[in-house]
Amino acid sequence: MNEVVRTILERRSIRGYKRDAPRREELETVLQAALYAPSGAGAEPWHFTVLTDRNVIEDFDARTRAAMADSGIERIEALGKAPGYRVFFDAPVVILICGEKVLRRAGRHLSALADCSAAIQNMQLAAASIGLGTCWIGLVRYLFEREPSFMAPEGYEPLFALALGRPAESPSSRPERREGTVKWL
Ligand SMILES: Cc1cc2nc3c(=O)[nH]c(=O)nc-3n(C[C@H](O)[C@H](O)[C@H](O)COP(=O)(O)O)c2cc1C
Repeated sequence: MNEVVRTILERRSIRGYKRDAPRREELETVLQAALYAPSGAGAEPWHFTVLTDRNVIEDFDARTRAAMADSGIERIEALGKAPGYRVFFDAPVVILICGEKVLRRAGRHLSALADCSAAIQNMQLAAASIGLGTCWIGLVRYLFEREPSFMAPEGYEPLFALALGRPAESPSSRPERREGTVKWL
């Protein structure tokens, strides 16, 4: 099977990481993949903050858990308060993905959310292809609702985070669930 397709089919979210951080060149490869993602009108409306300082990551994690615990949504509150739960699963690297608030090339068809999501998917696949694990983290939204400019450069808003590191688990590939999802005309 083609290597790219195999990576796509075998990639899984990783929720357990070894303590040693990926090498700088590995992180550069992952970031380069992000920068080559497609974007509407070629706007490239993204910004990536690479967090490698354990204290900074722990603070981000604790703030997110506190926001979850105060979200007013029973399931999210329970998760935020659960003993031992870590939003980033103690990953040695977390990448914060921010999107431009107002796209320079204005157009109703443009979406920083879509473009940043494409960049995240590229990072996940590039990381998987070099033996690293990732988990896309959307729960950070509960923190961003409270702190809408959290770590974002001027003109950008925080959207998602990506946990990244050497996998300490190897979940098997997901079964394909095609029923009702594909129609040929
Ligand atoms: C937009 C988005 C947000 C996500 N947020 C989280 C999250 O906050 N925490 C988490 O553990 N997984 C999160 N995930 C990972 C999904 O749970 C995971 O991709 C899904 O269950 C499929 O499993 P797989 O990635 O192993 O194929 C998120 C995925 C996406 C695409």
